[in-house]
Amino acid sequence: MKDEPVLRDKNESLWRSLGDVTTAGVTLKNPILTASGTAGHGAELAPYFALSSLGAVVVKSLYPTSWPGNPPPRVQNTPSGMLNAVGLQGPGVEAWVQHDLPALLAVDATVVASIWGHTVQHYATAAEQLVDSTSKLVAVEVNLSCPNLEGRAAMFAHDAELSADVMRVVTERLGSSGIAIWAKLSPNTDRILQIVESVQNYGATGVTLINTLLGMQLDISTRRPTLGNGGGGLSGRAIHPVAVRTIFDVRQAFSQLPIIGVGGVANGSDVVEMMMAGASLVQIGTATFADPRAPQKILHEASRLMGTLGASKWGDVLNAAH
Ligand SMILES: Cc1cc2nc3c(=O)[nH]c(=O)nc-3n(C[C@H](O)[C@H](O)[C@H](O)COP(=O)(O)O)c2cc1C
Repeated sequence: MKDEPVLRDKNESLWRSLGDVTTAGVTLKNPILTASGTAGHGAELAPYFALSSLGAVVVKSLYPTSWPGNPPPRVQNTPSGMLNAVGLQGPGVEAWVQHDLPALLAVDATVVASIWGHTVQHYATAAEQLVDSTSKLVAVEVNLSCPNLEGRAAMFAHDAELSADVMRVVTERLGSSGIAIWAKLSPNTDRILQIVESVQNYGATGVTLINTLLGMQLDISTRRPTLGNGGGGLSGRAIHPVAVRTIFDVRQAFSQLPIIGVGGVANGSDVVEMMMAGASLVQIGTATFADPRAPQKILHEASRLMGTLGASKWGDVLNAAH
């Protein structure tokens, strides 16, 4: 089989002129990243645009072993968004390190690994499995929006103590490598500030806000949910104001904490809005399902917009709404 040519960004000068971004324990060439679970496990988007043009590619969350995910249907359209219950299907960390990570590095992508678990020990194991690869990664994002299947039944990200337990075991295993560790949090809680404080105390170099909102859609003819799993996570345009509000509130309470913003970003203006609310990095998720080139298009749009706003570097708009 003939190798695909590695794509380059012909409009690189647009974002290069705004300089690198140093935040949340990383220095990236620009602040635009993919969102976990929306850009594959490896280099799936490489045929569409230069993955090397993004600040980083955040891969789909990985479990210590392969994981089958949920029964179909796994995604449904909703007004101004989508519902998904993919159920974190994946190859497991070790297979990912062997097959997907090399494919990403081969196209010069900057890589953020994402891990998840059903128990604190699962997160510890997944982190351990990444120890020998930290030099090939720029950060590890810890997806805390997962149900805890032992002890207190709760989503890790809805419980400050459980979130701290996870961050502690991950930091114990990866902290000495110096790699950035981001905690990805859920908007489905009224205790977000407590949870942010807790993950910060246990080693998070940044918080990723937000994961999907809990949702459900029914088929009135069958009287059953349209997703195989029953409920799912709402993402896309519909949740953008929720993401902006969460980022704004967290920034107001924690003036120095690096925030990675995600939720319904579909154009350059959404990026700038999130930065003004307090996000120094911005991830593109559901927009990629409508157009696989969306992350790069949005990067170009945001870069042009910075010029029209009179900003000469990304940091010029950061926290501007406060
Ligand atoms: C199909 C799908 C799969 C997702 N898988 C993951 C995942 O594996 N890990 C994770 O942390 N977030 C996952 N997410 C959440 C996204 O990373 C993001 O936080 C959320 O969708 C909001 O951003 P968006 O509106 O731009 O999609 C997934 C979202 C979608 C739509």
